[in-house]
Amino acid sequence: MPPVACLFDAYGTLFDVAGAARAAAALPGAGRLAEVWPRLAEDWRGRQLDYSWLRAAMGRHADFATVTADALDWALAAHGIADTALRARLLALYDCLPAYPEAAATLAALAARGLPCAILSNGTPAMLRAATRASGLAGHLADILSVETAGVFKPAPAVYAMGAARFGGDPARILFVSANGWDAAAAAAFGFRAVWVNRAGAPPERLPGTPAATIPDLAALPGLLDRL
Ligand code: LAC
Repeated sequence: MPPVACLFDAYGTLFDVAGAARAAAALPGAGRLAEVWPRLAEDWRGRQLDYSWLRAAMGRHADFATVTADALDWALAAHGIADTALRARLLALYDCLPAYPEAAATLAALAARGLPCAILSNGTPAMLRAATRASGLAGHLADILSVETAGVFKPAPAVYAMGAARFGGDPARILFVSANGWDAAAAAAFGFRAVWVNRAGAPPERLPGTPAATIPDLAALPGLLDRL
């Protein structure tokens, strides 16, 4: 049975999450950020995911905008940076992260094959609206689904169930694409046909769920359709 839709993770998959720190570091007056931005970006992203999982485990949900700001505060403190203007700039840049160069062409190729594409992300509706508009991806998307509807972050099955419900209810007919290995594994465990975009060449996750395919970037996705 051919897939009926393709769901994409947003951050790290369509959008380059290091883009905010990279752009801020290139501006005049970046100070210490010019030197430490790659590690700060990594710490920011790491804490952002940790906080999403920890809040889910604690039963203390806060939306991804809050979690993203909290994680940035931790990362700035860890790097000895106390600069409220820089903090505000980094958060504003997070709302207009660059899309990966191959993202738009991939979405267009899937749409040309009659496959509607949508986002299923931890991001808030406002964050996802801003990023898809700024990057030009909005026009390629049939829908933007936020975990805020489920009130819990990935990898809670309730989130993947929301994505399945939007496109007919059968997860086996839906492709789910993520560059986050844990997200691809959890989506496969849920029942989606998962594709892991392994940009970093990381080893497979030791988690329940095995992706149906692993590709180095999104450009390989349209060529896979007949095999998935
Ligand atoms: C997302 C995060 C997990 O977009 O990357 O859902």
